[in-house]
Amino acid sequence: MKQVGLDDKTVNTIDCGSGPTLLFVHGFPLDHTMWLSQIEHFASDYRVVAPDLPGFGNSGFDPQNAPTTYSMKSFADDLLRLLDALDIDEPVVFCGLSMGGYIGWQFVRHYNERVKAMILCDTKSAADTKEVARARHFMADGVIEAGTSLATKGMLDRMISPKTVQNSPDVAMTLQAMIDNAPPHGVAAAQRGMAERPDVANLLPHIDLPTLLICGEGDQISPPAEMQSIAAAIPNATFATIPNAGHMPPMEQPEEFNLAVAEFLNDVFSK
Ligand code: MLT
Repeated sequence: MKQVGLDDKTVNTIDCGSGPTLLFVHGFPLDHTMWLSQIEHFASDYRVVAPDLPGFGNSGFDPQNAPTTYSMKSFADDLLRLLDALDIDEPVVFCGLSMGGYIGWQFVRHYNERVKAMILCDTKSAADTKEVARARHFMADGVIEAGTSLATKGMLDRMISPKTVQNSPDVAMTLQAMIDNAPPHGVAAAQRGMAERPDVANLLPHIDLPTLLICGEGDQISPPAEMQSIAAAIPNATFATIPNAGHMPPMEQPEEFNLAVAEFLNDVFSK
């Protein structure tokens, strides 16, 4: 792992391998370890950068100076500064899951010239309804008062498919530990940031990049039908579903997921 100083904060990141850069951006409330199978698989042909986003993993905020809200654009700005700090100026393949996808929309909107291709996993383009935004604020207050594990109770069941719980209890345990250990101030700030994120429907027809959308067949949070309609709105997009997976295909079905990503990358880089 590298510790990279970005003016006011330090970001903990994987930076390994060589070749074109794949930037893996984790979901909420997780950290870079959700991508371990991808880091291992792709580092033989690519440079793989997989940070803990500010506020998460070992990039936690100092509780004294933690922002109350951290917007998707702020995360995108941090990722740009991270690439600059790592001297990566070639356009990258941006691969984000769920919240990582919300950040991806902001990254491509503001820093399109730094992106070679997009991989969007189990994510949405719509903003929150008022009810969902209210629930996020409720959780944000709850994690500060009661800690992450109490305030996020029950979250795991919505994230992975019942088949994963049954067949891969180790994946369920790893994910639960990742959720429980998420730093409260980062969780709260990101929840408030997601609550205020904009709808990006107007951006989709302007994404002029090879784009892959991947969704677990049983995803209850960002269901396949919703992701398919996002794919239909992006000119150069393909859509793939991963069987026997919920919201977390990179962890639930890493081989299938890696295969779909590898095929897409072979097309992008004409291998
Ligand atoms: C995620 O996996 O990042 C979350 O489901 C995003 C969200 O809460 O909308």
